[in-house]
Amino acid sequence: MAKNTMMRAVQYNTYGGGAAALKHVELQVPSPKQDEVLLKMEATSINPFDLRIQKGIVWPFLPRKFPHIPGIDAAGEVFEVGSGVKNFKAGDKVVAVLFNICGGGLAEFAVAKENLTVSRPPEVTAFQGAALPIAGLAAHECLLRTPGFNYEKTGQQLNLLITAASGGVGQYAVQLAKLGNAHVTATCGARNLDLVKSLGADEVLDYKTPDGAALKSPSGRKYDAVIHCATGFPWSTFKPNLSTNGKVFDITPTPSVFMTYALQKLTFSKKQLVPLLMTPKKEKLDFLLNFVKEGKIKAVIDSIHPLSKAEEAWAKSIDGHATGKIIVEP
Ligand SMILES: NC(=O)c1ccc[n+]([C@@H]2O[C@H](COP(=O)([O-])OP(=O)(O)OC[C@H]3O[C@@H](n4cnc5c(N)ncnc54)[C@H](OP(=O)(O)O)[C@@H]3O)[C@@H](O)[C@H]2O)c1
Repeated sequence: MAKNTMMRAVQYNTYGGGAAALKHVELQVPSPKQDEVLLKMEATSINPFDLRIQKGIVWPFLPRKFPHIPGIDAAGEVFEVGSGVKNFKAGDKVVAVLFNICGGGLAEFAVAKENLTVSRPPEVTAFQGAALPIAGLAAHECLLRTPGFNYEKTGQQLNLLITAASGGVGQYAVQLAKLGNAHVTATCGARNLDLVKSLGADEVLDYKTPDGAALKSPSGRKYDAVIHCATGFPWSTFKPNLSTNGKVFDITPTPSVFMTYALQKLTFSKKQLVPLLMTPKKEKLDFLLNFVKEGKIKAVIDSIHPLSKAEEAWAKSIDGHATGKIIVEP
């Protein structure tokens, strides 16, 4: 790429400030390092983790410096490759996790590590590709950590509860769980009951009803695992709903979740609240992308926003009521 070629990008200069703190800027297109590919971005998606980085919740680790261009999920076309890149060339369509610096996606170009970039088959659109990485990998990780779960549909059927099944992670969790040996109970708002059923959930609870708030299975099941994508439920709500060895994977763990987990480990508790922070892996992303290619999973897209209106996408995510994924395209 010619030096001094400029691109449009959206960045912020300090912690906090929400959507209003996003600034539209013109920057020099980044150069890929030895192990990186430069992507011409086709789409990114917003994750609640992006908002947490902006709030300073992962300070002092992220962002590493200001100004910061947010956006971790990426779908794009390889424009240039670093000198050590072996598996990609200019023109390849890919999906990537911009996890090295935890951002860069809200721009016309972004750099991605080769080891977190996967080829995107022609059957997978840029929007579907951009929706997948963080949300899909988190859902997949919970299932991989669920004792007895498999995608071959073999062995005993497990009873799973998926909370916030209408959200970015939850919608993947329902679809992935139903590819395996699981009966799925899901929670969501009243407006999304039909949608979540259409994703494959066997029974769906409106989280604003008494039974929904108590997480009670309509068919009286006890859950072998809970993929907890909502927030704000105490352990006492989960415990009576779990089977003898039931596990709750809390993907938004607070310090008290880590404390509860440690205490349960010390006391050899069979029912456990497990904090889960997913670490992205290329092989797992490839595995999921194959499901998208085969039409076995498909992201529900809440909305698509142009980069010029990225702050609308950001505000929508902060609002916490997206149905599926929020996409931004340059
Ligand atoms: N640990 C990890 O590696 C990891 C990875 C990805 C995400 N996460 C975390 O996982 C959480 C979910 O992420 P996401 O992307 O799925 O969020 P999201 O898309 O913003 O979730 C929004 C959805 O949640 C529903 N919802 C909110 N409160 C609910 C409740 N009490 N019961 C049932 N549904 C509820 C909303 O429905 P209504 O509009 O009807 O209220 C909305 O459809 C976030 O906290 C995120 O940070 C963690």
